[in-house]
Amino acid sequence: MAVSVVEQEGAGGTPGQSQLGGPPLSYDPDLERIEIELLLEGIFQRYGFDFRAYAHASLRRRLWKRVEAEHLTTISALQARVLHDPAALDRMLLDLSVNVTAMFRDPGFYRTFRDTVVPMLRTYPFIRIWHAGCSTGEEVYSMAILLHEEGLLERARIYATDINEVVLRHARSGIFPLNRMQEYTENYIKAGGTRSFSEYYTAKYDGALFNAALTKNVVFSQHNLVTDQAFSEFNVILCRNVLIYFDRTLQNRVHKLFYDSLVHLGVLGLGSKETLRFSEFEDCYERLDSRDKLYKKIK
Ligand SMILES: C[S@@+](CC[C@H](N)C(=O)[O-])C[C@H]1O[C@@H](n2cnc3c(N)ncnc32)[C@H](O)[C@@H]1O
Repeated sequence: MAVSVVEQEGAGGTPGQSQLGGPPLSYDPDLERIEIELLLEGIFQRYGFDFRAYAHASLRRRLWKRVEAEHLTTISALQARVLHDPAALDRMLLDLSVNVTAMFRDPGFYRTFRDTVVPMLRTYPFIRIWHAGCSTGEEVYSMAILLHEEGLLERARIYATDINEVVLRHARSGIFPLNRMQEYTENYIKAGGTRSFSEYYTAKYDGALFNAALTKNVVFSQHNLVTDQAFSEFNVILCRNVLIYFDRTLQNRVHKLFYDSLVHLGVLGLGSKETLRFSEFEDCYERLDSRDKLYKKIK
């Protein structure tokens, strides 16, 4: 029976025991670190994707998962494969970007957004929103529904970006698993939804096709937070559950990108485990709510 990489971490073995999967215990940690550095440097130089400042433990786990899936035994072998075969890079990108998401994820966040941010947005004739790291788009459809119910969708332009083109294709399709609609309906209600959630989609086979009108003003496009530049001025930037995968230096770089991309009094929304505290930009924002991670740019 194949043993997964995660289960295998710290378990026994020797390099070359690929049938066990994962990093064997006797794998020299110094060598592993060098190999990972070389692999990430190679990917950056060859393809421009920069994972060099991603948090190490999670990255390492994911790389070994890919080593196993490619039936290889070392990180160096993975490097050779990825550098010579762009299709292997695509497979690896899917592993490296954790795409877990949900509609109205952390419903309290959306409720607070309705209560504290929507009144500010009402004062603008035109609203620009950026979802950075939107994954398969559930967050974007949730926001579109919220804005629609608040009568603001028509004047909003939403930019939804992710590093990963595969998840963006999924997001553009507007089709989500039917078996998650129960959970999403509950989230929607807790998030302060004012209608019946089923109004927004049509069930088709095992998929729920969301109303295309929701994404009329949405542009889905590829954008890499590590290497790409700031967009133009936004009233709201949501980047939730993305920064947790970055080290402190990279988090600061991305915070600069957001700071530069937000208008004065613009709002930044982060994931529940993320914070602006200890970042270089902490003093430039005021927290809007004691529980949810919503911040207003004040200087
Ligand atoms: C866990 S998902 C979060 C999805 C959504 N924001 C949410 O909170 O449910 C993290 C997303 O960040 C994206 N991501 C990772 N590194 C990125 C980068 N350098 N630039 C843009 N997106 C990135 C991944 O592809 C993935 O879709």
